[in-house]
Amino acid sequence: MSFSQKIIHWYSINKRSLPWRNTKDPYKIWLSEIMLQQTRVAQGMPYYERFLDHFPSVHDLANASEEEVLKLWQGLGYYSRARNLHATAKLVSEKYHGQFPKSYRGLLELKGVGDYTASAIASFCFDEAQPVVDGNVYRVLSRYFGIDIPINSTEGIKYFKELAIEVMDADQIADYNQGIMEFGALQCAPKNPYCLHCPLNEGCAALEKGRIDSLPVKLKTTKVRNRYFNYLVVLDQDNTIELRQRRGKGIWQNLFEFPLLESERNYSLEEITNAMGSVLELKETSEIYLFNDRPIVHKLSHQHLHTKFWIVKSVGKHRNGVNSEALKEFPVPVLIADFINTFKF
Ligand code: ADE
Repeated sequence: MSFSQKIIHWYSINKRSLPWRNTKDPYKIWLSEIMLQQTRVAQGMPYYERFLDHFPSVHDLANASEEEVLKLWQGLGYYSRARNLHATAKLVSEKYHGQFPKSYRGLLELKGVGDYTASAIASFCFDEAQPVVDGNVYRVLSRYFGIDIPINSTEGIKYFKELAIEVMDADQIADYNQGIMEFGALQCAPKNPYCLHCPLNEGCAALEKGRIDSLPVKLKTTKVRNRYFNYLVVLDQDNTIELRQRRGKGIWQNLFEFPLLESERNYSLEEITNAMGSVLELKETSEIYLFNDRPIVHKLSHQHLHTKFWIVKSVGKHRNGVNSEALKEFPVPVLIADFINTFKF
């Protein structure tokens, strides 16, 4: 059996029954593939079900408000995916009459749809012979063929795409693509793969050379950046709180948060007291204290946010104060949602 035949055979026996595998509907496939980028299946599945419940068609998603979409996305991270999803739903609903493009090339035109997602949709829905190359596929190919070109280098991206085209099964592309991703996720796992019991162990270069743990090779990119966030949870005389929407570039665009004072290191109570006037609308405060003695370190892919929540009591009245019940309706970062759930307003 060839490489692709072995993959397809393995898949026919070992595939998990996943909701997006019983459909060729481009809307559902697109939704699942956007959600599963940078997200594990177990984590993504409930979100997928909830989105389809709320938005059974691309028109329903297009007609939703951005806040509703972000709220349903809350906790999945990489929120630009949700904003792009919404923008693409509007385009497909309004300009394409609800029809997704039917080719890899056409799909690439959509916001948030790159090489991987276009290949996935084109192959799963329309049987177009385009190989998917995601993290799982890089791992399988680099190990089996013993390739140590970094997978995130320009050269590596090109090399692996060409190799993927060479070894794919163009006549059974949907099963082949699902199969190689599933094989990477379940059999050729990142850590401690069970090579003794693997249908590809015979021709596997990495196994032969003892290189399973060192492949694939990935270039170290950006260093982690430490940031110091001071959230000012300002309670006014009616116990309402001020929320603000994050604008501009950077993390959590369009999500809501408390007034934020970012500092270059951990700030003391005195430093916060002196600095907070520049951020707050209500100046007459009666009390300020720290909610969490130790900073909460919220880890994003390239940033560690050292976060302190400062409770500020004010004698004034917010112009647009939000009460503790309404607070739960806003799309917020998980860091803020966790605080809201713990703090007794
Ligand atoms: N991860 C990304 N796409 C997937 C799919 N279609 N099935 C399982 N895991 C995936």
